[in-house]
Amino acid sequence: MHDAVRRLWPELDWISNPTLREKTARVWERALELSPLQPADLDRIPFTLLVPHCPTTFMDHKRCVVHIARKAAESMKEFMGSALKLDCDTVIAGAILADVGKLLEYETADGKTRQSKRGELLRHPFTGVALAMECGLPDEVCHIIATHAGEGDLVKRTTEAYIVHHADFMAYLPFKNL
Ligand SMILES: [Fe+2]
Repeated sequence: MHDAVRRLWPELDWISNPTLREKTARVWERALELSPLQPADLDRIPFTLLVPHCPTTFMDHKRCVVHIARKAAESMKEFMGSALKLDCDTVIAGAILADVGKLLEYETADGKTRQSKRGELLRHPFTGVALAMECGLPDEVCHIIATHAGEGDLVKRTTEAYIVHHADFMAYLPFKNL
Protein backbone atom coordinates (compact mmCIF):
# COMPACT_ATOMS: atom_id res chain seq x y z
CA MET A 1 0.00 0.00 0.00
CA HIS A 2 1.21 3.49 -0.85
CA ASP A 3 3.00 5.00 2.17
CA ALA A 4 1.22 8.35 1.81
CA VAL A 5 -2.19 6.69 1.91
CA ARG A 6 -1.18 4.57 4.88
CA ARG A 7 -0.06 7.72 6.73
CA LEU A 8 -3.29 9.57 5.92
CA TRP A 9 -5.58 6.68 6.82
CA PRO A 10 -4.62 4.44 9.77
CA GLU A 11 -8.37 3.59 9.84
CA LEU A 12 -7.88 1.40 6.75
CA ASP A 13 -6.83 -1.31 9.21
CA TRP A 14 -10.41 -1.37 10.53
CA ILE A 15 -11.61 -2.93 7.25
CA SER A 16 -11.51 -6.66 7.99
CA ASN A 17 -11.81 -7.88 4.38
CA PRO A 18 -8.27 -7.59 2.90
CA THR A 19 -9.52 -7.21 -0.68
CA LEU A 20 -11.87 -4.38 0.27
CA ARG A 21 -9.09 -2.75 2.33
CA GLU A 22 -6.64 -2.83 -0.60
CA LYS A 23 -9.21 -1.54 -3.09
CA THR A 24 -10.20 1.28 -0.72
CA ALA A 25 -6.55 2.31 -0.40
CA ARG A 26 -6.14 2.06 -4.16
CA VAL A 27 -8.94 4.62 -4.70
CA TRP A 28 -7.01 7.12 -2.57
CA GLU A 29 -3.80 6.35 -4.46
CA ARG A 30 -5.56 6.92 -7.76
CA ALA A 31 -7.11 10.18 -6.52
CA LEU A 32 -3.68 11.44 -5.42
CA GLU A 33 -2.27 10.53 -8.85
CA LEU A 34 -4.93 12.65 -10.56
CA SER A 35 -5.25 15.47 -8.03
CA PRO A 36 -3.60 18.89 -8.16
CA LEU A 37 -3.27 18.54 -4.34
CA GLN A 38 -0.43 16.86 -2.47
CA PRO A 39 -0.94 14.57 0.54
CA ALA A 40 0.50 17.25 2.87
CA ASP A 41 -2.13 19.72 1.63
CA LEU A 42 -4.84 17.56 3.20
CA ASP A 43 -3.54 18.33 6.70
CA ARG A 44 -3.74 22.04 5.95
CA ILE A 45 -6.70 22.85 3.71
CA PRO A 46 -10.25 23.29 5.12
CA PHE A 47 -12.62 20.34 4.85
CA THR A 48 -15.31 22.45 3.21
CA LEU A 49 -15.50 25.62 1.16
CA LEU A 50 -19.09 26.17 2.30
CA VAL A 51 -17.96 27.55 5.71
CA PRO A 52 -15.97 30.79 5.47
CA HIS A 53 -12.59 30.53 7.26
CA CYS A 54 -13.37 26.93 8.25
CA PRO A 55 -11.08 26.16 11.23
CA THR A 56 -10.92 22.36 10.80
CA THR A 57 -8.67 20.62 8.31
CA PHE A 58 -9.68 18.21 5.61
CA MET A 59 -8.11 15.17 7.29
CA ASP A 60 -9.34 15.98 10.81
CA HIS A 61 -12.89 16.14 9.50
CA LYS A 62 -12.63 13.06 7.30
CA ARG A 63 -11.12 10.91 10.02
CA CYS A 64 -13.67 12.16 12.57
CA VAL A 65 -16.50 11.09 10.25
CA VAL A 66 -15.00 7.61 9.91
CA HIS A 67 -14.69 7.30 13.71
CA ILE A 68 -18.30 8.47 14.25
CA ALA A 69 -19.63 6.16 11.54
CA ARG A 70 -17.82 3.11 12.92
CA LYS A 71 -19.08 3.72 16.47
CA ALA A 72 -22.62 4.35 15.22
CA ALA A 73 -22.54 1.15 13.14
CA GLU A 74 -21.32 -0.88 16.13
CA SER A 75 -24.08 0.50 18.38
CA MET A 76 -26.76 -0.17 15.77
CA LYS A 77 -25.46 -3.70 15.32
CA GLU A 78 -25.37 -4.28 19.09
CA PHE A 79 -28.92 -3.12 19.79
CA MET A 80 -30.75 -3.65 16.49
CA GLY A 81 -28.55 -6.12 14.63
CA SER A 82 -31.17 -8.84 14.45
CA ALA A 83 -33.77 -6.48 12.98
CA LEU A 84 -31.53 -4.37 10.77
CA LYS A 85 -28.70 -6.01 8.85
CA LEU A 86 -25.67 -3.86 8.31
CA ASP A 87 -22.12 -4.47 7.22
CA CYS A 88 -19.45 -2.61 9.19
CA ASP A 89 -16.77 -3.05 6.50
CA THR A 90 -19.08 -1.33 4.01
CA VAL A 91 -19.67 1.54 6.46
CA ILE A 92 -15.95 2.04 7.12
CA ALA A 93 -14.91 1.80 3.46
CA GLY A 94 -17.75 4.12 2.45
CA ALA A 95 -16.84 6.67 5.13
CA ILE A 96 -13.15 6.60 4.14
CA LEU A 97 -14.12 7.15 0.51
CA ALA A 98 -17.07 9.55 0.86
CA ASP A 99 -14.99 12.64 0.12
CA VAL A 100 -12.16 11.16 -1.94
CA GLY A 101 -13.60 12.98 -4.96
CA LYS A 102 -12.71 16.30 -3.33
CA LEU A 103 -9.18 15.62 -4.53
CA LEU A 104 -10.59 16.25 -8.00
CA GLU A 105 -12.92 19.06 -6.90
CA TYR A 106 -10.49 21.33 -5.05
CA GLU A 107 -7.31 23.09 -6.07
CA THR A 108 -5.05 25.62 -4.41
CA ALA A 109 -3.94 28.93 -5.88
CA ASP A 110 -2.04 31.73 -4.15
CA GLY A 111 -2.23 29.77 -0.90
CA LYS A 112 -6.03 29.58 -1.05
CA THR A 113 -8.22 26.54 -1.63
CA ARG A 114 -10.97 26.83 -4.21
CA GLN A 115 -13.26 24.73 -6.34
CA SER A 116 -11.68 23.84 -9.68
CA LYS A 117 -13.44 24.11 -13.02
CA ARG A 118 -13.88 20.33 -12.95
CA GLY A 119 -15.26 20.60 -9.41
CA GLU A 120 -17.89 23.11 -10.53
CA LEU A 121 -19.09 20.66 -13.15
CA LEU A 122 -18.67 17.46 -11.14
CA ARG A 123 -18.97 17.67 -7.37
CA HIS A 124 -17.08 15.08 -5.33
CA PRO A 125 -19.90 12.51 -5.00
CA PHE A 126 -19.72 12.05 -8.79
CA THR A 127 -15.94 11.96 -9.16
CA GLY A 128 -15.71 9.79 -6.04
CA VAL A 129 -17.96 7.17 -7.61
CA ALA A 130 -15.97 7.30 -10.85
CA LEU A 131 -12.72 6.68 -8.96
CA ALA A 132 -14.23 3.89 -6.87
CA MET A 133 -15.75 2.10 -9.85
CA GLU A 134 -12.44 2.33 -11.71
CA CYS A 135 -10.80 0.57 -8.74
CA GLY A 136 -13.45 -2.16 -8.55
CA LEU A 137 -15.22 -1.16 -5.33
CA PRO A 138 -18.56 -2.92 -4.74
CA ASP A 139 -21.76 -1.08 -5.63
CA GLU A 140 -22.73 -0.92 -1.93
CA VAL A 141 -19.68 1.25 -1.23
CA CYS A 142 -20.14 3.34 -4.40
CA HIS A 143 -23.72 3.95 -3.23
CA ILE A 144 -22.45 5.49 0.02
CA ILE A 145 -20.14 7.84 -1.90
CA ALA A 146 -22.96 8.76 -4.28
CA THR A 147 -25.52 9.49 -1.55
CA HIS A 148 -23.50 10.87 1.39
CA ALA A 149 -24.20 14.54 0.55
CA GLY A 150 -27.27 16.52 -0.50
CA GLU A 151 -27.46 14.81 -3.89
CA GLY A 152 -28.34 11.61 -2.02
CA ASP A 153 -31.58 13.10 -0.70
CA LEU A 154 -33.11 12.08 -4.02
CA VAL A 155 -32.13 8.43 -3.51
CA LYS A 156 -33.32 5.63 -1.19
CA ARG A 157 -30.26 5.25 1.04
CA THR A 158 -29.12 1.90 2.45
CA THR A 159 -28.67 1.56 6.22
CA GLU A 160 -24.90 1.91 5.76
CA ALA A 161 -25.39 5.04 3.65
CA TYR A 162 -27.67 6.62 6.28
CA ILE A 163 -24.96 6.11 8.90
CA VAL A 164 -22.24 7.76 6.81
CA HIS A 165 -24.56 10.57 5.69
CA HIS A 166 -25.50 11.46 9.27
CA ALA A 167 -21.94 11.04 10.58
CA ASP A 168 -20.79 13.45 7.87
CA PHE A 169 -23.51 16.00 8.55
CA MET A 170 -23.15 15.97 12.34
CA ALA A 171 -19.48 16.81 11.83
CA TYR A 172 -20.33 19.53 9.30
CA LEU A 173 -23.56 21.36 10.17
CA PRO A 174 -22.38 22.79 13.55
CA PHE A 175 -19.66 24.67 11.66
CA LYS A 176 -22.38 26.65 9.90
CA ASN A 177 -23.22 28.21 13.30
CA LEU A 178 -19.74 29.65 13.73
FE1 LIG B 1 -18.79 15.23 1.02
